[in-house]
Amino acid sequence: MDINVVHGNIAEQKADAIILNLFEGVTEPGGATGAVDQALDGAIRALIAGGDFTGKLNSTTALYPRGALPAQRVIVVGLGPADKLTLDHVRTAGAVAAQKAQSLGAKHVATVAYGGAGAGGLEVNRAAQAVAEGAVLGMYEYLKQAKDAEPKSALERLTLVEFDTARVATVEAGAHTGAIVAASANFARDLVNQPPNVCTPEGLAAQAEKMAAEVGLTARSLTPEEMQALGMGSLLAVALASSLPARLIILEHRPPGAESIAPVVLVGKGVTFDSGGLSIKGAGDMPAMKSDMGGGAAVIGAMRAVAELKVPRPVVGLVPAVENVIGSHGFRPADVIRASNGKTIEIISTDAEGRLILADALVYAGRYQPAAVIDLATLTGACSIALGRGMAAGLFSNDENLLERVRRAADVAGERVWPLPLYEEYRERLNSDVADMKNSAGDRYAGVGVSAAFLKEFAEGYPWAHLDIAPVAYDDHAKTPWPKGGTGFGVRLLVELLQEWK
Ligand code: BES
Ligand code: MN
Ligand code: ZN
Repeated sequence: MDINVVHGNIAEQKADAIILNLFEGVTEPGGATGAVDQALDGAIRALIAGGDFTGKLNSTTALYPRGALPAQRVIVVGLGPADKLTLDHVRTAGAVAAQKAQSLGAKHVATVAYGGAGAGGLEVNRAAQAVAEGAVLGMYEYLKQAKDAEPKSALERLTLVEFDTARVATVEAGAHTGAIVAASANFARDLVNQPPNVCTPEGLAAQAEKMAAEVGLTARSLTPEEMQALGMGSLLAVALASSLPARLIILEHRPPGAESIAPVVLVGKGVTFDSGGLSIKGAGDMPAMKSDMGGGAAVIGAMRAVAELKVPRPVVGLVPAVENVIGSHGFRPADVIRASNGKTIEIISTDAEGRLILADALVYAGRYQPAAVIDLATLTGACSIALGRGMAAGLFSNDENLLERVRRAADVAGERVWPLPLYEEYRERLNSDVADMKNSAGDRYAGVGVSAAFLKEFAEGYPWAHLDIAPVAYDDHAKTPWPKGGTGFGVRLLVELLQEWK
């Protein structure tokens, strides 16, 4: 979908549909909605007066101007009460409106940066970004691997119309950001939705490298032999059972002139399928484990956006990619393995594999002398028990400042995170009789905190934040306007964080 911005009056736009918005409780619409209502002889006021349309969040209605306006249709989307408006409401309403237009067969739609002026009180560039993001995210469809699969016919063009000349450039900047961020989140969703025989460690690396070449990132991925030479015995142990070789995907964004700035390093868990290994999962829990590379997908998606948006700081993305299956060469409970910082790990559960691959990736991150390292991982079921499925990602950090940055970015991006404690005592739960630490406490208590305490052993010498995205990376149920499957969680948050990093 192309997104463009024009200066003018929405009522005068020639399009298959113009999309207007209405706050709940408003009976005399003003602004663009008011202007169109006048041109339609009060048709929108009549819908409100009759109780047919109340402006409830995400509700829609369509009207047909039949020549009274150049546009073929008018779609009105509800934004809920004006005093409750958030960017997230604008984003969702943008998706709902785009889907409504699509369902009516529209190809070219025009709209405004809702909430950005007048009653909404949001910043104009943010509002424009949220409308563009909503529309692009709302048009997402995973093209299934079916014989004769055909994509739905999506919108081809979205025009954002700005009445105030002084604001056009601001709307343009916001729309540009929103289009790139949402396309990058959709890229991440595709990676998560792919079956694990397509999105293998090498398949993931190949897609990351192809994307990197398209957007101008440097990319390479370490082979098992190269990782062996670096002593990455923890990452490699997880991959032993699989015939699919592991990869450490490395993406680098190095803007010219920023050579002296310390990079921010993003690390994403890339388990392309998690059967649990010998500590095998139940059969019913397994199919969803194709999404166990959701953290890696978010990092790859964020790197795409960072390159396209020409973020002025260096950023590095690291994705350890492995498959955790069963085989006679596999690692086993009671094995002791050695990570690349020399620390040894007693395996209690082969299903606590995410922390093992992150361990070597976090040590590798230290090579960059980073300003900060942020990892994202579908790490524990315990995080979903603590916070609830679909509710929020768990946030841990060894640095208050970084914790605040991540919270603020998550808030603006509309991706919920919630801080969880990193008590020193969690580490004691990992004390081992035969190694530096165990990979699991072996019981269910504070499973999420204990996993973070494990990672902390490898995230040494830099400010570090860990996001356990197990609750939010993958949705088994569609939640209008979002389809089920990969959510792309993390892309928006990371891009927001990196764009605002001063
Ligand atoms: N990938 C899983 C965590 C997970 C479970 C993510 C469900 C999304 C949905 C992870 O590798 C895992 O198996 N964790 C174990 C850790 C335990 C063995 C200490 C868990 O959560 O049970
Ligand atoms: Mn596991
Ligand atoms: Zn896992």
